[in-house]
Amino acid sequence: MPFPLFKLAHVIRIVSVVLLFCVANANAARSGDALYNSYCIACHMNGVAGAPKLGNKADWQPRIDKGMDVLLKDAMSGFRAMPPKGLCFDCTEDELRSAIQYMIDNSQK
Ligand code: HEC
Repeated sequence: MPFPLFKLAHVIRIVSVVLLFCVANANAARSGDALYNSYCIACHMNGVAGAPKLGNKADWQPRIDKGMDVLLKDAMSGFRAMPPKGLCFDCTEDELRSAIQYMIDNSQK
């Protein structure tokens, strides 16, 4: 094989490994913790527009009482001042569920 062709094949191999890695990463669900800190925190840390605050049991208890199914549905479609998907437009339903679970788990005290 002539030298330049060999090099090209090498480059293609490296690029495809990198691409595969990116695709694998894109498919992996992000953690509720990571999503909260990238998206939900904007409103749910300080209670912007009446958002239930992380760590505030009084804010969260009435929400928790609705049950996860209702919370997830509201988070997906939006609920009053809560924007659809909490502005994480590429979030899957499972990812939103883990972000909600993260807020609930950290708002029990
Ligand atoms: C632009 C601000 C904003 C962002 C960003 C945001 N929220 Fe909210 N969220 C709100 C507000 C405001 C409410 C309270 C709505 C109400 O009850 O009037 C709320 C309420 C909720 C509720 C309770 C819904 C119910 O049925 O009581 C859940 C669950 C929720 N948000 C999840 C999330 C998740 C998960 C994220 C991040 C992926 C997120 N939010 C990002 C503003 C936001």
